[in-house]
Amino acid sequence: MSRPTAFTRLTGIDHPVVLGPFGGLSSVDLTASVSAGGGLGSYGLYGYDGDRIRATAAALRARTTKPFALNLWLPVPGEVEPEPTAADFARYLAPLRPYFAELDLPLPERPERYLPDLDEQIAATLEVRPAVLSVVYGVPSPALMAAAHGAGTVVLGTATTVDEAHALQDAGVDAIVASGAEAGGHRVSFLRPPEESLVGLFALLPQVVDAVDVPVVAAGGIADARGVRAAVALGADAVQVGTAFLATDQSAASSAHRSMLRGPDAAHTVLTRALSGRLARGLPNRVTAEITDPAPFPVQNWLTGRFRPTAADRGNAELLSLWAGQSATLAAEADAAALLRSLVAALD
Ligand SMILES: Cc1cc2nc3c(=O)[nH]c(=O)nc-3n(C[C@H](O)[C@H](O)[C@H](O)COP(=O)(O)O)c2cc1C
Repeated sequence: MSRPTAFTRLTGIDHPVVLGPFGGLSSVDLTASVSAGGGLGSYGLYGYDGDRIRATAAALRARTTKPFALNLWLPVPGEVEPEPTAADFARYLAPLRPYFAELDLPLPERPERYLPDLDEQIAATLEVRPAVLSVVYGVPSPALMAAAHGAGTVVLGTATTVDEAHALQDAGVDAIVASGAEAGGHRVSFLRPPEESLVGLFALLPQVVDAVDVPVVAAGGIADARGVRAAVALGADAVQVGTAFLATDQSAASSAHRSMLRGPDAAHTVLTRALSGRLARGLPNRVTAEITDPAPFPVQNWLTGRFRPTAADRGNAELLSLWAGQSATLAAEADAAALLRSLVAALD
């Protein structure tokens, strides 16, 4: 049985183990399973509108009465909101046309918008009163902090550098995820370009712990008991695990993605902008090799999102985003509850 930490007291969970949110790939099954097991299941709301957020929270509550976290992406300061013209759109689509042809899909029309309205997402998220709201890509506004605390929701920010941890603490977040460069998925840096913010967790974690007074959650490359113990030794109040849970039977990752995570090439992750326009860590495939000049985010993510689900249905791993962290080969458990138990056992 793990001992309480500042993070477990803050969030009301039994064990300081967090399932990382997976924007686009979270599943109610996996999130509920981790929360029901006494950890903190997180669910990524990237791309969800208000109705879908309310439905997701209801589905989670139908499965568990325990606390869970919902996760939102904040707009990156200084990132130009791209409003591509018809000509821009055609230019961005051009390098992707062969993939639509290969999958027998029609070319997409230019959409009215690429992402749901952030205010709508925030309102719906706070309306359902999750125990925890975790955010990436920035610092929550004073209004968001006040509204979250008014709803009884704990706010978790995400830092990839010590400077970002300071900024998050100054904004009043209740706890900070220190996300090392080993982590799977997007590099959520917001003060400097992500390419200049690639600090490994062994270096980042103790520096963030020294820099802030709030509890720190270690993320990036933690996939088994050894990683949990190392993170605790470096001062973590909790661990956040992504890739090892993504590989379990309860995850929403396609079978093509999951078999790549379990395959011989799982060790060879790359950082790429090819799939979404923003830097992210995953396994290489044809898209990461061939797309050298992607459209800006969120246009590229929307465009590839028109063919990725079909590629997943057809088991075509070459045309998917294969997000994975550097410890993917350590992801040994097939069952999420068993993985959670093995991570918690390291805290005895
Ligand atoms: C497929 C995938 C999607 C992710 N999406 C999000 C997201 O939407 N929001 C977020 O805060 N973190 C996201 N992450 C990061 C994870 O929540 C977690 O912090 C990270 O996976 C931990 O590193 P690890 O993969 O080495 O365990 C994602 C990771 C993966 C693998």
